[in-house]
Amino acid sequence: MKFFIDTASIDQIKEGIDFGICDGVTTNPSLMAKEGISGHDNVINHYKKIAEIVDGDVSAEVISTDFNGIVEEGKRLADIAPNIVVKVPMIRDGIKAISHFTKIGIRTNCTLVFSPGQAILAAKAGATYLSPFIGRIDDTTWDGMSLIAQIAEIYAIQSYETEILAASVRNAKHIVEAAQNGADIVTCPLSSILGMLNHPLTDIGLAKFLADHKKANS
Ligand code: G3P
Repeated sequence: MKFFIDTASIDQIKEGIDFGICDGVTTNPSLMAKEGISGHDNVINHYKKIAEIVDGDVSAEVISTDFNGIVEEGKRLADIAPNIVVKVPMIRDGIKAISHFTKIGIRTNCTLVFSPGQAILAAKAGATYLSPFIGRIDDTTWDGMSLIAQIAEIYAIQSYETEILAASVRNAKHIVEAAQNGADIVTCPLSSILGMLNHPLTDIGLAKFLADHKKANS
C-alpha cells in the first residue's frame, strides 16, 4: 500500500519525503485555503512547487462543476507537470469529464466518493484513482472501512484498474484497517502516519536495551 500525504503544506511534504514514506500527495481546495494559497497564478505556482519536490503523483483538484469548465481547468492543471493528476468531484459532469480525460490520456482522481455505486461509475469512466472518504463516513456513524472492503471486492471481481485511494483518513487505526481491507493507497496528514510509530513496549524495551548496554560498558 502506498502512502500519500494529504496536505498543501510544503513543510509537511518535505518532512514526509525526509522520513522516506511519501509516495505522493493529495490536495483539495480546503487544504489550499488552509495554506493561504489563492488566486489562479498562486495556485498554479504552488502545485508546480509541490510537483517538483514529490517523485510520485500529486492530485490537484478542479473547482469547476460543469463539463466544459472541468475539462478546461483539468487540462491547465495537467499541463503543470507529468505527475499532476486531475482531481474531479463525483458528480454527473465530473464523471463525463473523467471519461473525456481518460480518452485523451489525462490521469484523474475521482473524489468525494461515499458509495459503491459511485465507485463503479468512476471505474467505468476510467478514473486512475478513486477517493472514498473514510473519516467523513465514520462521522455520520456509518462504517467507512466497510466501504473500502466492498469496493475492493467489486474492483477485484470486475478487474477494474482504478486504484482505491482511501481518503479522509484521520489516524493510525484507519491506515492499518485500510491496508487490511484492500486499499491501494492511503492519503492522510503526516501526523496519522507518525502515529503508527508509537507503542509503549517499544519505548520500555529500548530503554532497557540502552540501560543494559550502559551497565555492561561502564
Ligand atoms: O483527501 C480528502 C481529505 O482531505 C478529507 O479529509 O479529514 O477533511 O475529512 P477530512
